Amino acid sequence: KRSSDYEGLKILVTAGPTREPIDPVRYISNHSSGKMGYAVAKAALDRGAAVKLVTGPVNITPPTGAETICVTSAVDMYNEVMKSYESFDILVMVAAVADYRCVTVSEKKIKKSGENLTLELVKNPDIAAELGKVKGHRIMIGFSAETDNLLDNAASKLASKNMDMVVANDVTLEGAGFGVDTNIVKLIKRDGSRIDLPVMSKEDVAHRILDEVLSIRNG
Ligand code: C5P
Repeated sequence: KRSSDYEGLKILVTAGPTREPIDPVRYISNHSSGKMGYAVAKAALDRGAAVKLVTGPVNITPPTGAETICVTSAVDMYNEVMKSYESFDILVMVAAVADYRCVTVSEKKIKKSGENLTLELVKNPDIAAELGKVKGHRIMIGFSAETDNLLDNAASKLASKNMDMVVANDVTLEGAGFGVDTNIVKLIKRDGSRIDLPVMSKEDVAHRILDEVLSIRNG
C-alpha cells in the first residue's frame, strides 16, 4: 500500500538480544526474540529502502534483501554499528542490548564450589546514546521496553539518548513485548506528540513506525 516511499533511503536496524559470555559454556542474555527488529527491517525493504540489519543471536530468518551482520556481544554490536552508521539516513535501535558484561571472562568452565558465586559486571557501551551524540541530521528511533512508569521512562530515554522518536512498549501487557507476534506501543516524538496504537502485528507496528519516521524526515 505504501509502495516505494523509502526508495533511496538507507536504514540501519539493530535487533535481537546480545550475549555476554561468562565462561566458554555460559552467558548472560535476555528474552528478546528479534521479531520486532526483523519486522522493521522487512517493512523497510518492502518499501524500497536499503537495509543493514545488525543482529544478535535469534532463531528467526533474516528478511531477504537485507545486508545482515550477525554479532554476539554488546561490544561487537557497538563496533559494527559505529563503523557503518555514517552512510545511513535512518537508525532504528530495536536490539535488547545487555546493560552489563562480565569484567573477566573465564578461559575455563567455572567449577561448582561454594554456596555463593559473585560475578563482577561492568557497563556496556550504550549504542543508541553514543549514536545520539554523533548522528547529526540522521533520524534515530529507539525502543523503551518497560514494566512500570512507561511514559516517564520512555520520555527520559528520548531526551537522554537524543532520539527523534521512542517506541514505548509495556512488556507486562498480554499481546506485547518479547517472543509474541503482536505488540502494543506508544510512539512519542521530540515535540511531545504521542500516538497510542492498539494491539497490532509486529509487521503493522513496523509500518506505523516507518510512517512516522518519514513524517519526521519530511518535517
Ligand atoms: O536504556 P534502555 O536499554 O532501556 O534503552 C533502550 C533503547 O536503547 C533501545 O532502543 C535499545 O536498542 C537502545 N540501547 C542500545 N545500547 C545499549 C542499551 C540500549 O542501543 N547498550
